[in-house]
Parts: sequence; C-alpha cells; structure tokens
Amino acid sequence: MNTFKIAVVPGDGIGLEIVPAALKVADALGEKEGFQLEKEFFPWGAGNYLKNGEFMPVNGLEILKPFDAIFFGSVGLPEVDDTLPAKDYTFKVRTGFQQYVNYRPVRTWPGFHGPLKEKKNIDFVVVRENTEGEFVQVGSQIMPDSPNGMGIDTSVFTRRGIERVAHYAFQLARKRRKKVHHITKSNTLINSLTYWDRLIKEVASQYPDVEHFQMYIDNCSANFVLRPEIFDVVLTTNLFGDILSDLGGAVMGSLGLGGSGNINPEKEFPSMFEPIHGSAPDIAGKNIANPLGTIWSASLMLKHLGEITAAEKLMAAMDKTCSEGILPVDLGGTAGTTEIADAIIQRLEI
Ligand code: NAI
Ligand code: MG
Repeated sequence: MNTFKIAVVPGDGIGLEIVPAALKVADALGEKEGFQLEKEFFPWGAGNYLKNGEFMPVNGLEILKPFDAIFFGSVGLPEVDDTLPAKDYTFKVRTGFQQYVNYRPVRTWPGFHGPLKEKKNIDFVVVRENTEGEFVQVGSQIMPDSPNGMGIDTSVFTRRGIERVAHYAFQLARKRRKKVHHITKSNTLINSLTYWDRLIKEVASQYPDVEHFQMYIDNCSANFVLRPEIFDVVLTTNLFGDILSDLGGAVMGSLGLGGSGNINPEKEFPSMFEPIHGSAPDIAGKNIANPLGTIWSASLMLKHLGEITAAEKLMAAMDKTCSEGILPVDLGGTAGTTEIADAIIQRLEI
C-alpha cells in the first residue's frame, strides 16, 4: 500500500469545514484504492495569530518540508490585518518551496449550469506564475500621512521565472488540446510584460506543435465570459491569474468549485493543494460551504502523488453526485458540506 505523508493546514473560516470534508472523502477513496494518507494537522493561520502572534512558526517551512504534499484550506479572519495572510503564510510556502506553477482548472460541471447557460464545453486550465510578478511585495510607502504621500509596489519578472512557467504551460498543452493563450498587458506595462511576451515567444518556438496566442488581460476577461470554449491553457502572471481564476470560478457557477495546486514541478519540495477561494467568513460555521473545489484539489493532489486512477475516480464520484442533483447551497441546492462529502463517498466506484 502506498502511504503519503500529508501536512494538513485547514486555516481559518470555512477551511475548518471543507478540509475535513475533503479528507474524509480522500480517506474513503484510499481504502478502496489501496493508498493511505498519513496526516499531520497544523492549526496555523489568522486564528493562530490571534492566539500566539504568528500565522505559522518561524521554522514553518522546515516543518513542512519532509511531507509529500500540503493540503490547505485558506487563511484570513475579519479581525486580523488582511495584509498578513498572504505575506505570512501563503506566499511564504509558495515561494519558499518554489511552487512556481499555480494550476487552476475551469470546466463545465454536470448537473447544473453556471451563469453561462448555453456554454457546455468549457475546459481549460489557468497556469498562473506563482512566485514573482506583481506579488513580490517589494516597495514602500513614503510619507503616507502627508499630502505628498505615496505607495509603491514593484513587479519583478525574471528570465528564469518566466521561462520555467512557460515550459510547464506548453508541456501541459501538449497533453491537452495543444493551445496556449499567454495573457499580457505589454501595451502599457512596457518593461516587465514586453519581456514576458518576448521570453514566452522564445519558449513557444520550441513547441511548434502547440498553437500559441497572445492576448491582453482586458480582452481575456471578456472572452472568459463570451467565448470560454476557445481556451485550453491560459498562461498568465501572478496578479492576472489570481483575478482570472476567480472569474473562472464564477464562470463555472461558484467560487466554491475551484480547485488548485501550487506545484513545484521538479518535486524538490512539497506542493500545496487548496481551493481557489478564501476563508469566506460570511458563511463560516454553518455547514453550508461548498466543498467541491477542495475535493477537486484533493484529486489534483492524488494525481501529483501518482494515484492517477484514484484521482479520476474521485472526479467521477463528484460528477455523479452533482448529476443526481445533490448540490450545495451556493449552487441552488440544499445539501450541507458534510452531506456532499458523504454523498460522494457513497458514489466512489470500486
Ligand atoms: P472569499 O473567497 O473568502 O469569499 C468570497 C465570496 O465567495 C463570499 O461571499 C463567500 O461566501 C463565497 N465563497 C467562497 N468560498 C465558498 C465556498 N466554498 N462555498 C460557498 N461560497 C463560497 O473571499 P473574500 O471574502 O474576499 O476574503 C475572505 C478572507 O479570505 C480574507 O481574509 C482574505 O484575505 C482571505 N483569502 C485567503 C486566500 C487564501 O488563503 N489562499 C485566498 C483569498 C482570500
Ligand atoms: Mg485569489
């Protein structure tokens, strides 16, 4: 039996509901498919900050490093400074473990339709550069309280950072429908994103079998709604990808549907799997959060760990559950978080 060591960081808010729900499903799947998740829980996040003054211990990355993967909910609470969750947890893990690919799939689901009712064939992956770009948090506020005050954030795009995520996107496209749209705004960000465009074109030339298109972020946003079927792999920057993947969630029907993986493709460090959304404090503690995006993240984690058949069976069980009309509240259904998980477990094929 394959055993995987999983660091579990449920985080805050609905993370404390959707992560246990997804792990219950993953454990049931493991029993059927012959693998085991050896889990260790870490109560890190904004709640921990309120209690102990830190999101995670200073040696948090050392603690996480020996694990095969990290399964994460989300961090942030209304009573805690909201500049801290990304800075003190999420970005630390993503950059510290060189999880430079943020893999965020978008698709049409069976059993319900999102706001784009007539679009039946949406199936693409947002590949978001995950360690640099607009989110490097290099900058400062100068004389913020004076009439001449200013705030500056600098974007950093490096050759290494661009090329490695571009190669990932083109290799991914080769396994899919062989199309990459690279998203940019180089008509206005004339230093960083013209460099981004140039290097992506250089990488594209090494994949002549993959169609390559360049598209501006503003036009791309419109096309996510108007022509989502044209996309296969959407390669984009850290900030653009953050926004576009929430739009992807909305196109599917809810933010609660989006699964993701923060991937270190070389497997030098553990990768981290989490839903695309935040801790949703507005619905926390009510057992109404949609766990499907988190369960999808579990499927992505299993795939990353090599349990391909199990990962596919998990998706099939989710599809069956939705097809039968067992849907969470955000999709117009009545099933609670735990009920959805139990329904999926009942539909796992042996
Ligand atoms: P959010 O994604 O938590 O919520 C946005 C809206 O979507 C809310 O109305 C919420 O109820 C709904 N929603 C989200 N997930 C859902 C689910 N699974 N089922 C049903 N409805 C769901 O974003 P928001 O409100 O902007 O941020 C809340 C907190 O989460 C903040 O502290 C923010 O910093 C944090 N956050 C953390 C992230 C992470 O840990 N990776 C990512 C995004 C936000
Ligand atoms: Mg986001």
